[in-house]
Amino acid sequence: MNTERNYTLNDENASLICKLPFISGSVGPNVIDIQALYKQTGLFALDPGFTSTASCRSKITYIDGEAGILLYRGYPIEQLAEHCSFLEVCYLLMQGNLPTQDQLDQLINQVTHHTLLHDQLTNFFSGFRRDAHPMAIMLAVVGALSAFYHDALDIHSKDDRDLCAIRIIAKIPTIVAMSYKYSIGLPFMFPKNNLSYVENFMCMMLGNPCETFIPNPVMVRALDRILILHADHEQNASTSTVRLAGSSGANPYACITSGIACLWGPAHGGANEAVLNMLMEIGDVSNINHYIKRAKDKNDPFRLMGFGHRVYKNHDPRAKLMRATCHEVLDELGLHDDPLFKLALKLEGIALEDDYFINKKLYPNVDFYSGIVLKALGIPSNMFTAMFAMGRSIGWISHWDEMISDPAQKIGRPRQLYTGETHRDVTKITDRIVK
Ligand code: CMC
Repeated sequence: MNTERNYTLNDENASLICKLPFISGSVGPNVIDIQALYKQTGLFALDPGFTSTASCRSKITYIDGEAGILLYRGYPIEQLAEHCSFLEVCYLLMQGNLPTQDQLDQLINQVTHHTLLHDQLTNFFSGFRRDAHPMAIMLAVVGALSAFYHDALDIHSKDDRDLCAIRIIAKIPTIVAMSYKYSIGLPFMFPKNNLSYVENFMCMMLGNPCETFIPNPVMVRALDRILILHADHEQNASTSTVRLAGSSGANPYACITSGIACLWGPAHGGANEAVLNMLMEIGDVSNINHYIKRAKDKNDPFRLMGFGHRVYKNHDPRAKLMRATCHEVLDELGLHDDPLFKLALKLEGIALEDDYFINKKLYPNVDFYSGIVLKALGIPSNMFTAMFAMGRSIGWISHWDEMISDPAQKIGRPRQLYTGETHRDVTKITDRIVK
């Protein structure tokens, strides 16, 4: 629904009346379309961190942070995690509906036949130091994809955009696994077309050429679920970065690279690695209170990693599913006495009963348990954010596709509240004084 309402804005000098459209989505908060605000009033809106600003219209993912609801294309995350594979979810996010068996078979076939990298692209890896962070390598190699796959880069062609999406979904696991193999000095493992998407990734990542890799179905299911839970999260920082980069018409591989860069930060996708580092730093249950105290101290930058979320103010539904997956994996491996897991459970229990965390509505987020699951799967902690990127790539490319196909799309160009010097004249260098 789209109606117009009058709004009166008062400042000390005058009242300004503006007529702005009031728009309802299919569910969730209504919005005031402020595109004409400047034209009508000469005012900009200021919203650093976008806490009250919808940056676009989207049909992909819906979150109700108060109720702890996450829907991909209308389907609850709990149902998708229970009944679907990651590739079904990829199809859903990109195409808008769950696939039929034929459509899924076709997607599996396409993805399976695009997993190899151009042979010259594999030379990139040897240019890096062995101790480079895998995210740094991933950034460079994903960015370089546009130099190798420029046969289908017409962003206004749906066929090209779909092919780019297939290439992204298919090649990122290969790049992630190669980044890891390079860092530990082991040979790259080629993709195997007889394996499923997740089995193939596990084989490339954890297998070696001297042995046959036999995937454990519980581990495969756990990793598949991790990818589903990370697949999309509406206009989060990295997705918004991808959209902003894409709004200039930049190619999709460049845009996905900008998303990877943004994801790397500890407040976003770097949190899963940070959680594990934090648990190792805490070390023992007896130290928990000290760290809880630090997390509450305004003068201490320490935060309880894996806690809190910009949108979820009740619970993060992904965290619940991840906690259950964590139990399944540790049961399968007989690791329930794993000291890190015990420490995490204790820390979660203490924080959830602490007034500071209760009052600020800080609950465990998806990253609190994903690190423990990934560690149990044999993934080293410096690969965790790359794993997040692997899952989120389908979300990024789906949002990019949605944006590019929108006829109303224009370049993203925020304004600012300027607080610097006003006009001043340049003086001769000899007349300048130190300020
Ligand atoms: N530990 C201690 N205090 C916290 C924490 C935390 N993890 N998170 C927020 N707070 C406090 C914060 O100090 C602030 O206090 P005050 O109001 O007194 O200034 C208040 O809670 C609100 O925090 P905020 O930083 O203003 O909230 P935000 O919505 O801007 O930040 C967040 C959300 C996720 C960046 C933040 O909660 C955080 O840094 N958490 C730890 C990092 C983390 O786990 N990130 C993963 C997010 S989930 C994965 C993803 O979607 O990317």
